[in-house]
Amino acid sequence: MKRPARSLQRITPQQLRAFEAVARLGSVTRAAQELHVTQPTVSVQLRELARAVGEPLFEAVGRRIRLTQAGEALQRTVGEIDGCWLRFESNMAEVRGLVRGRLRIASVTTAEYFVPDLVGPFAAEHPGVEIELAVENRDRVVERLYRGEDDLAVMMLPPADVPLETAPIMDNPLVVIAPATHPLAGRKVRLAQLAGDRWLMREPGSGTRLVAEEHFAEAGFEPRIAMSLGSNEAIKHAVAAGLGIAVVSRLVVESSVPARRRGGAGLVVLDVARFPIRRRWSVVWRRDQLRTLAARRFVDYVERERRLAG
Ligand code: PGA
Repeated sequence: MKRPARSLQRITPQQLRAFEAVARLGSVTRAAQELHVTQPTVSVQLRELARAVGEPLFEAVGRRIRLTQAGEALQRTVGEIDGCWLRFESNMAEVRGLVRGRLRIASVTTAEYFVPDLVGPFAAEHPGVEIELAVENRDRVVERLYRGEDDLAVMMLPPADVPLETAPIMDNPLVVIAPATHPLAGRKVRLAQLAGDRWLMREPGSGTRLVAEEHFAEAGFEPRIAMSLGSNEAIKHAVAAGLGIAVVSRLVVESSVPARRRGGAGLVVLDVARFPIRRRWSVVWRRDQLRTLAARRFVDYVERERRLAG
């Protein structure tokens, strides 16, 4: 590392503080008052500083003093040093946040099938970061975004009226599921052929429901809605039990072995024209909100995982 000239290395923080105060206040007396030291102390500090620099730092103009060219250069340098310390201070605050901090993530219910798997390795790598994961439907996650409650949110349909940044996580194909005994199982199906079926929908406020409704409207299809259910698991079991058919994320069908053992064996994905509906999950955050180091690290980690997954 290149070091400053030997004389400059003798400069002390106290001398720089005295110099900064005199330069700013234009008076040794007022600087001494501000620093709670005597006026001769400040004068001595300035004299020693000027000797170390090798140039006078102030010159007298009538009864006032002003900075010489060397003094001005030193004043700029002192400003830069202060800036460096401030940056260091905020870096340390961030490092402390990583060592002992919190990461609040809101996730839509459908993403509950993969978010814990995603969060797990990150949490293991950052044992000091306490992760709070709230799992709610899309409307609730949007409300939390409005209120700025979380550091990050995982969702399929980010709202357009909040300033957001997004990073994609993974594809979310939505499929039509039916009981394995459905007469159209294993055949090519048109939506119109499902007009007589009983459709089970997620509750209003669900992103899955919103996408399904928009898709049906575009196709000019009116489903016979028999029931609304408040969770993907409830839908899955109701379909397996023969209560009707439904649009769900493919992940819901593929999820967890115990669920498959309980109800999954009784389910099929119908091969319906215009399906799967292709959507994607993203991690999002408010652009107008300061992102913590833990949140930035999490997004980097998500992007790394996505690259690895191809
Ligand atoms: P939801 O989530 O159906 O659980 O509300 C959908 C989504 O936005 O991924």
